[in-house]
Amino acid sequence: MISKEIIDEILLRNDIESLIGNYVSLKRAGSNLKGLCPFHSEKTPSFVVYPADNSFYCFGCGIGGDAVTFVKQMEHLDYPDALEFLAKRAGITIPLTNDRNYNGKRVDKSRVLKMNTDAARFFHKCLMSNDPEAKAALAYFTDKRGLDLATVKYFGLGFAPNSYNAFSNYMRKLGYSYEELTEAFLCGKNDRGQYYDAFRNRVMFPIIDVSGNVIAFGGRVMDDSKPKYKNSSDTPVFKKSRNLFALNFARLTCSEKLILCEGYMDVIALHAAGITNAVATLGTAITSEQARVMSRYTKKVIISYDSDEAGKKAADRAIKILGEVGLDVSVLNIPGSKDPDEYIKTYGKEKFEQLIDGAKSEFEYNLESITSRYDLNLPQDKIKALKEVEKLISEVYSSAERDVYMREVAVRFAVDMKSIKNDVERMISKRTYTKKKEESKNLLRRSEGFSDRTNPDFVKAPAIAKNEEAVLGLLLYMPDHLKRVVEKKLLTSEDFFTELNRRIFEFLMQNYSIGDVGPPDFNEAFAPDEVGRIVRMKMSRAEFTDNGEAILEESIKNLKASLSKKKASATNTYEGLNALLAKKRDN
Ligand code: UTP
Ligand code: MN
Repeated sequence: MISKEIIDEILLRNDIESLIGNYVSLKRAGSNLKGLCPFHSEKTPSFVVYPADNSFYCFGCGIGGDAVTFVKQMEHLDYPDALEFLAKRAGITIPLTNDRNYNGKRVDKSRVLKMNTDAARFFHKCLMSNDPEAKAALAYFTDKRGLDLATVKYFGLGFAPNSYNAFSNYMRKLGYSYEELTEAFLCGKNDRGQYYDAFRNRVMFPIIDVSGNVIAFGGRVMDDSKPKYKNSSDTPVFKKSRNLFALNFARLTCSEKLILCEGYMDVIALHAAGITNAVATLGTAITSEQARVMSRYTKKVIISYDSDEAGKKAADRAIKILGEVGLDVSVLNIPGSKDPDEYIKTYGKEKFEQLIDGAKSEFEYNLESITSRYDLNLPQDKIKALKEVEKLISEVYSSAERDVYMREVAVRFAVDMKSIKNDVERMISKRTYTKKKEESKNLLRRSEGFSDRTNPDFVKAPAIAKNEEAVLGLLLYMPDHLKRVVEKKLLTSEDFFTELNRRIFEFLMQNYSIGDVGPPDFNEAFAPDEVGRIVRMKMSRAEFTDNGEAILEESIKNLKASLSKKKASATNTYEGLNALLAKKRDN
């Protein structure tokens, strides 16, 4: 357990405006700030930060809360990890933090990191040793893959010997247990309960995070056997879906643009040639988490994937995911080579830089891929291709940009620019119309509580639920009244019909003695969308503070009235039904 004092200290030292400002570009709107919500995709800002209250709320998706809720949601952390993240940010040490429970077991993150570092040292030492096996491994890097020794050292590359216990014996001498090694995926355990080294006879690539910690490994075979790579699975210190290979180096030179490759070897070859802003994903397709991480370090990503079919497919996916987080994306075409590694070794740095300069923008890339699918000499094909291209243009946000593309396409297709413009504008207005209609429908649904996923009971009794929210909002806003309501039992949990609101009230009852129960206190027991609802209830009551007591009484009365009305009508229905049945029997 982390003490309330420490939590308060963490929140005090993490100013919500600067925290959220790291992820979202915020603009002043009165005493608050507004921006595009990082939790759902939108073009007009509905994400509001309330600096006075140290909270935020998105009117589009309903997520809201304080700094902890934000970090929980943004960094995909659980409650204790989110607190730790914020503590670190503010330079606060949480006592006991290294001893806390993780998946029911006690895990010391710094010990796992130290173990990984020791493992990386072992693998590197093995690679550099005089053993014939090791010499062959080093030759794989130097002779077969053309790396110089400096690069091998710079990336901390290594070799895992062809043995079931050489590695674990060494590590156990350093004091690490088999259990610890197994949890970090450095050892495995067979059916008979025997432990063995997980990486054997492979060249090793340590994965290093931006703080310089070794967090995982990838190991490659040196021939054509399968699987080509073996990678660490997720551990308490490593998440595949959010880390990037070589970001620890690339972050220093990537503020303008970042080159995204598929393979470790591609990245290493680029860095070795002096192109130091290259990273790769870790054996998986790119995730939106990784895209968000990239968007914190750079403005523009150049996708530099293999030129085979799989690479092209992966590039299509990456364009979409990177575009969604607002990154400027372009795609490299690597002529005459299968991947960036091969290309830069054959043609050198200057040629590769020329490729970067000539990288196709997202639009050009998509245009190429459409036209390559059709024979533009055939009128039918040409019409189909043009339709797809027009659709593509209609999805471009800036009208100046659209103009440039239309001019280009008009020439290329030998069609009058005016007719393209007509088509495109028709597509845009049609889409705007359906979108507006959809939005207003959603808004209506939300306000009536339909498909309310946060409080699914809302729809069963909207009138009661609204009264509940009014009461809870006031109680949240006026802690003094909360105390009175609880102590005098003016309300009990029976007075709440919807499960969520009852839970919120029960939480308030249990915690009223701490005084001002606010979003921070809810973070442990409530999900971010629930905390969001709590913030909304509280903020929407702000205007009633002058005459608080009377309004609270009134709201409690309304709630009880709506509740007994529902009970009465339920009984009536029941009685009515009985009467009907009785009548039927009589007949
Ligand atoms: P590639 O097969 O393109 O690997 O896979 P590469 O790194 O370019 O290797 P070389 O050039 O053949 O030596 C791209 C990435 O996909 C992951 C690895 O992260 C690799 O770097 N991968 C590939 C795996 O995780 N497992 C595999 O079996 C193969
Ligand atoms: Mn390759």
